[in-house]
Amino acid sequence: MTESNDLTSRTALVTGASRGIGEASARALDAAGARVILTGRTVADLERVAGDLGNDPVIITADLAQSGAGTALAEQVVAQVGGVDILVNNAGIPMRRTPEQLTEADVDLVFAINVRSLLMLSVGLGPSMIERGGGSIVNISSIAGLSGPLGRVAYAGTKGAVDAMTRALAADWGPKGIRVNSICPGIITTAIWEESRQTVPGLIEDLAQKVPLKRWGDSDDIADVVLFFASDASRYVTGETIAVDGGMTRLSV
Ligand SMILES: NC(=O)c1ccc[n+]([C@@H]2O[C@H](COP(=O)([O-])OP(=O)(O)OC[C@H]3O[C@@H](n4cnc5c(N)ncnc54)[C@H](OP(=O)(O)O)[C@@H]3O)[C@@H](O)[C@H]2O)c1
Repeated sequence: MTESNDLTSRTALVTGASRGIGEASARALDAAGARVILTGRTVADLERVAGDLGNDPVIITADLAQSGAGTALAEQVVAQVGGVDILVNNAGIPMRRTPEQLTEADVDLVFAINVRSLLMLSVGLGPSMIERGGGSIVNISSIAGLSGPLGRVAYAGTKGAVDAMTRALAADWGPKGIRVNSICPGIITTAIWEESRQTVPGLIEDLAQKVPLKRWGDSDDIADVVLFFASDASRYVTGETIAVDGGMTRLSV
């Protein structure tokens, strides 16, 4: 760790911190010295992660599918810990549906979690970052928003929206000292793939062949980039979107 990625005395909120990429991000931020607030719906999972963290972690449960949940979570965070320096908007759900299968309820659900709550939590916590002299928002997007994935039109739409909001919020809040960036994971081994693993035979093997680095990613591959954007190591980077995908989006194999 260098001085620029030391997060001692910073407070970070990680959504979806109970497993997968959010869990790895929470662990990385804690290891770098930050106090981490973990959110998700499942207390037992959050407690398992928090139990390993060393900087007085806090658990706040929230169901980000609910109307008003992003704003309510921001208010609770400010009331309980005074605000944050770092926000990792990681919680998200997949939505593998062909255009013919898709229902309005599917669209409402995936946009509620992946887009609406992400934005309302960000705008709810921004003022506390400004009061502290600035901060960093790291949005976990997806390569699905960069390309045209088959059978995932609604999910791709949410992630394209995340990248667009990343740029717009970075423009609004750059002058106030808040940087906003997004990370587009490729295929990362987490529970999010469970449904696809069961419904699309051979998917896992097929996808690995499409990655120039010839392997699936793991959550730590993403958490290291979260740490970069969260810390002063990226102090002159804002409004950016980076694919962390083993070269899958840009390169031909
Ligand atoms: N894994 C990949 O290959 C991949 C690729 C591209 C992008 N991503 C993105 O990376 C992010 C994390 O994905 P992951 O693979 O780590 O998924 P995951 O293992 O399924 O974890 C999702 C997290 O989000 C939380 N969450 C889900 N629904 C929620 C809700 N309604 N309210 C609050 N929290 C909720 C879950 O906790 P609870 O269930 O306890 O609420 C869990 O902590 C997502 O935004 C996803 O779109 C992942």
